[in-house]
Formats: sequence, C-alpha cells, structure tokens
Amino acid sequence: MIISSTTDFREAARRRLPRFLFDYIDGGAYAERTMARNISDLADIALRQRVLKDVSSVDPSTTLFGVDQALPVALAPVGLTGMYARRGERQAARAAAAKGVPFCLSTVSVCDVDEVRAASSAPIWFQLYVLRDRSFMRDLLARASAAGATTLVFTVDMPVPGARYRDAHSGMSGPYAPARRLLQAALKPGWAWDVGVMGHPHRLGNVAPALGRASGLQDFMGWLGANFDPSIQWSDLAWIRDAWKGPLVIKGVLDPEDANAAADIGADGVVVSNHGGRQLDGVLSSARALPAIADAVGDRLTVLADGGVRSGLDVVRMLALGAKGVLIGRAYAYALAASGEAGVTQLLELIDKEMRVAMALTGVRAVSQINSTVLAAPPKR
Ligand code: GLV
Repeated sequence: MIISSTTDFREAARRRLPRFLFDYIDGGAYAERTMARNISDLADIALRQRVLKDVSSVDPSTTLFGVDQALPVALAPVGLTGMYARRGERQAARAAAAKGVPFCLSTVSVCDVDEVRAASSAPIWFQLYVLRDRSFMRDLLARASAAGATTLVFTVDMPVPGARYRDAHSGMSGPYAPARRLLQAALKPGWAWDVGVMGHPHRLGNVAPALGRASGLQDFMGWLGANFDPSIQWSDLAWIRDAWKGPLVIKGVLDPEDANAAADIGADGVVVSNHGGRQLDGVLSSARALPAIADAVGDRLTVLADGGVRSGLDVVRMLALGAKGVLIGRAYAYALAASGEAGVTQLLELIDKEMRVAMALTGVRAVSQINSTVLAAPPKR
C-alpha cells in the first residue's frame, strides 16, 4: 500500500498485527478522551504563515543533553516493541541510529539492553520503571550504563496501570486470553511466522533475570500492576539521581508543581506526557499542559513532550508550545509493525521533510527560532 503519512502506517499495522497487539498500541484508558485530545488539541494549534524570508536553507537539527542530533525527536520508550516486528527493538534502534536521533529502550522491552547494543553501536536512552526489588534495579541501571545508555528516562506516571477497556476485549487480558491471542495470530500468518515463530524468545528481556521463567507476557498489564512499586515518591529520586551519572529525565509530568519538583531533585529534563492517554483519562492533553510547564521550568530543565505527535508539522507545533524536543511513540510503533526498520526509517524521513516544510512556511531556518512567535494565537492554558 502507498504510505504517505502516519495514518497509512497505522492502517498497515492494523492489517498486519493480531488484534490484541494492534489494540494494545492503538488504545488508551477508559473512553480514550485524553488520547483523542492529545491529537486534536495539537492539531488545533495554528501557526503564523510568514512569507519572503529566504528559506532556501532550513535546518531541523538540534542538540539535546549536549548531543547533536538530526531532528528534535527521539523514539519514545514503547513496551513490547519486539512483538510488533521481529526483535523490533533492534530494528528501531538501527533506524534511529542511521537517522541520527536517539532510540529510548523501555524497561519492558522484549530485547534487553545488551541485545540492542549489539545491533547498533549508537548511544541509546534507557527508560526506567521501578520494580519492587531495588537491588535488581541498581543492577539494571549499571547494565544499561555499561551497554552505552547515555540518558535515563524515568517514567513516573504509572504507579498503577490505567484502566484500558480495549485490552479486555482484544484478548490482551481477560477471559481465555491466551486462546484468543492464538486464534488472532492464526488470522495474521505474516506476523505469526515472522514474529510469532521467528521472533523468539518472547520475554521481557531486561527484567527476565529477576523474573526467572515468568516472562510477564501472559498478562502484561497484570504483571505491571503486580511488580511496579507504587510507593515511589520524590524522596526516592535521590538514589536514582545518585545511581545515574548521565542526564536524568522525568517522564510523565503534566503539572508545573511536579516539574518544579523534578528540577529541585536535580533532574536534567522532563517529558510533558500523559502516557499517550493510556493512564488517567480526563487529564490535560500534552499540548494544553506544555506551555505552563515550559514557562515554569524552561530555564532550569530541558522540556520535552509527547502525545499526539503524528507528523513533522506536529513536532514544530510542540516546539512552538515550548518543548525543546519531542518523543514519538505510537507513530513509530505503527511504522515498525508495518515494515520493520525500513518503516521506521521512512517515518523519520517523512518527519524530516514535513518539519522542513513547516519551518519554511513559518519563516524560520533553525530549530532555535521555533518558539511562541510562530504561533498564530496564544495557546489555551
Ligand atoms: C506501558 O508502559 C503501557 O503504556 O502499556
């Protein structure tokens, strides 16, 4: 099929994946209102069209945490990436490295951090969920660091998993889930052979040493609920800050007070995020939360954002609202499911092209010039 946008990648992913996997990545919490608003609030952000400003050379590159990168974009931590394509984390990491943007490996990935490192020598970011076993967590951080992870992205918006209605209906969880998943896989022979058979081992690679044989994949959300530590609080950040020498980014901040707290504990950045609308439905969209957070901590922290970004135009919108960089989650998961590494490469090229067009038509030549002056109207607060 012809692919010209994330919408096409999404459709290709829907055709290729068994239903439980497509719905897992595509879905959100409760009635999915926040998830929808992530997209619609961002799409509503109007930009100022400017003309005759010599845009013959436009440069979408930037620097995040002291590292030059081709785009102000990173591949977001996405759980179970290795189920969307064969050893999917390796493929996505290679595509990101070739383009010159960071790949962020999830704690709950299929490939572990060493396998990803072996596939691509480019530095990666590592996302942390804190499990109850703290000594294992320290070991995991040491492993990530030894495997070349530079930046630690600590996700704080999932002390408990959100209520995701789609997962129960799809067979991701709920009654007869394993049998239903098997049936769905049989209906998608391309995926069943490529990933279901050839993509083994299917387990949560990073945490498998602590879990023994229990991989966590049978009832993924149940496993998250049982193993994540909901007692974690700001004072616990001291040991994480201590254990990680590189940049520390707190992901899942939607409130300026929390952003200030992140700055106070010595974080280097925050990701304004509601977990792609997968946690508490009804909270603010990222686009609406971002400006106040950028105002509050933009001079102390590198403010990143995710949620609803589907194009290079959306990346420019997020930067105009105050972000210095953007994480891309679902969009790359769709592309990876659709056509593996080549799909992610194609997506990043699309984003590059679309960013250049948006920059040219708003009359800016460098990422540093993308700020509230390119907004046609002040953002809603
Ligand atoms: C895991 O992080 C999820 O959102 O499913």
